[in-house]
Amino acid sequence: MSESRWSHVDAAAAAVRSEPDESTGLAAARGRPARGVLIAVEGGDGAGKSTQIARLTRWLDSRGRSCVVTREPGGTELGRAVRDLLLHGACVSPRAEALLFAADRAHHVETVIRPALEAGQDVITDRFMDSSIAYQGAGRELSADEVRELSMWATAGLLPDLTVLLDVPVQVGAARRSRRGGADRMESEVAEFHERVRTRFVELSRSAPERYLVVDGALSADSIGEIVAARLESTGWFEGTP
Ligand SMILES: Nc1ncnc2c1ncn2[C@@H]1O[C@H](COP(=O)(O)OP(=O)(O)OP(=O)(O)O)[C@@H](O)[C@H]1O
Ligand SMILES: [Mg+2]
Repeated sequence: MSESRWSHVDAAAAAVRSEPDESTGLAAARGRPARGVLIAVEGGDGAGKSTQIARLTRWLDSRGRSCVVTREPGGTELGRAVRDLLLHGACVSPRAEALLFAADRAHHVETVIRPALEAGQDVITDRFMDSSIAYQGAGRELSADEVRELSMWATAGLLPDLTVLLDVPVQVGAARRSRRGGADRMESEVAEFHERVRTRFVELSRSAPERYLVVDGALSADSIGEIVAARLESTGWFEGTP
């Protein structure tokens, strides 16, 4: 496992990576199975996340990797109840909304993501903490720092090895969404809200470029798939099964 694979774990955990990692529970001891790779796919509504996740899954399958595909909110039974409250319920106050998303994430990480990673499976999550920071931190009234801290507490410091950000102009995402019909509470926000969300996603990617792949989501699905595959190939993480 290369050094960079551990950049997502906090400094203290990295310092003891030859020992079992008590703070994160990751299988870090020598001789234990290597942990899987965590990939988050982020972007605004209609950016093409589901489309690329299907391709990414096929790419991992073709390399004989075992992969779990999940999503936020709603990757667990508890999360599905939270998702209904958040996306289809009445108005939720901003702090309550941030806490509900964080609760969904905490349970998702603890019961789905970490166990899969520890078992050596790769995990692709459709949205992760950047969505919270973008939607609750920039789109609404809370500061990005507050939402990030809440999320980091919820995940006990787990960050994706790679975040694929599909960046599309708001109008492109809106046009794709309108073809599908029926908007949830987030999707119904005004264009200005989605512009702030888009800006925040891009800012997040610039704060740690080594952990991101930002792709122009207006390219064809095939082209995006090739760009993502090339980046994954270049990491060397997928040579051989874990
Ligand atoms: N690169 C692309 N070029 C053109 N159309 C695309 C592209 N990627 C996806 N689409 C189409 O746009 C629509 C939205 O794509 P998709 O469902 O993958 O987006 P999403 O980000 O998962 O959306 P949501 O946020 O609602 O889950 C679909 O009809 C899909 O076929
Ligand atoms: Mg989708």
